[in-house]
Amino acid sequence: MSILIMGMGYVGLTTALVFSELGWKVTGMDPDERKINSLLQGALPFYEPGLGTLLKKHLHANMSFSSDPKTAVQQHSFVFLCVGTPSQTDGSANLGYIQQAAEWIGKYMQEYKLIVVKSTVPIGTQEKIARWIQDAQPLPIPFDVISNPEFLREGTALHDALSPDRIIIGSNSEQAAEQLKQLYVKLDCPVQITTPKTAEIIKYAANAFLATKISFVNELARFCDKIGVNISDVSEGIGMDHRIGKHFLRAGIGYGGSCFPKDVKALLFTAKEKQAQLTILEKVFQVNETQFLYFLDNLERQLASFQGKTIAILGLAFKPDTDDLRESPALSVIKSLVEKQAVVRAHDPVAKLPSTFLSDKVIQCETIEETVSQADAVILCTEWPEYRKTNWGELKKRMKQHYFFDGRNVLSSEQMSAWGFHYQGIGNR
Ligand code: UGA
Repeated sequence: MSILIMGMGYVGLTTALVFSELGWKVTGMDPDERKINSLLQGALPFYEPGLGTLLKKHLHANMSFSSDPKTAVQQHSFVFLCVGTPSQTDGSANLGYIQQAAEWIGKYMQEYKLIVVKSTVPIGTQEKIARWIQDAQPLPIPFDVISNPEFLREGTALHDALSPDRIIIGSNSEQAAEQLKQLYVKLDCPVQITTPKTAEIIKYAANAFLATKISFVNELARFCDKIGVNISDVSEGIGMDHRIGKHFLRAGIGYGGSCFPKDVKALLFTAKEKQAQLTILEKVFQVNETQFLYFLDNLERQLASFQGKTIAILGLAFKPDTDDLRESPALSVIKSLVEKQAVVRAHDPVAKLPSTFLSDKVIQCETIEETVSQADAVILCTEWPEYRKTNWGELKKRMKQHYFFDGRNVLSSEQMSAWGFHYQGIGNR
């Protein structure tokens, strides 16, 4: 059995390398020739721990790459769709890349294919894909389209894909579902076989639920600020209840990334289309949109004004262990600070600020020391481990004023205060 993966983004490349690791022959296809050429040289198009080693291990053995959809489609029996489904301005998902891939499959296939949809797609897309393939076929050839959503996280993609909590297979054909199950036979986890529509909604519901946990705890953090209770202690206390679970209860400046913001909006869009109301999810979105503003308002009150102040931003990526800046709360913080006429010195161990952000008022520094030099305040936006390990007692000497605003509640309030910082997190006053 040979596997073609279309789309060499996070999900596509990780899936391709994981299948190689599981012993299958895999081709990764992407129309972006530059990306394919650099993958053929063994270079990853993004930062993700562990993937580089797997790429070197399997390149030219189990794993090959191509930018030619015709031969790629013709040479493989399984075709995985892992292309992007970015948000459009109205919140709906853009299915342009999916449609293009489906049309290639229809146009070039010469025998039965099992098409597997891993991209996050709105409810009913599996049916659309089948139609697009059919419409593009010069002659009718049978195929199946299965929905098989992915649940990996950036930063821990490899671990998540090799040790999943579950595999969801949404298929109208029992035989096709069994064939797909065989690809995962070496993974030890439950497999749920269901309808394509159910699989599609399971993916959105999982992300929406996790986003709900985060917005719940973020709103509770605002309440904790009012009553003088520490939200981290509250999260610990409620998380020990197995029915609640300890994960995704870390308060902060909000969720970002390419998934939660996009998927929450897409689900709300579908609900509106179907004239259904997802009231809780509307509020989840609203809390997230305002969380960094709530934080900044508090800081502004302490500093009297941001105007002319030098603010050191620690962490740009939407979470640690990635260089992904999509929907990163750090970028919203920087934009807001610039509007309020602050000077920004930013740092991230791997992510780089886009050139559109850089100016004489916004610079990116190489080291933490350089970043905090002459700063009035530090705002920690991403909880990279190096920020926790830094000797802040030492670095304090480089700063002009000693305000430290911890947007991820990762440093010890007691220790920072003992070093003489005006330290403030979220929900820990
Ligand atoms: C998320 C899901 O966790 C994956 O299961 C899913 O496969 C993926 O989206 C996707 O749909 O492709 P990801 O966006 O990579 O994964 O990262 P997460 O670890 O979920 O973090 C998302 C955001 O939530 C980050 O900004 C993070 O800082 C924030 N977060 C997370 C919190 O603010 N508090 C928490 O307790 C946990």
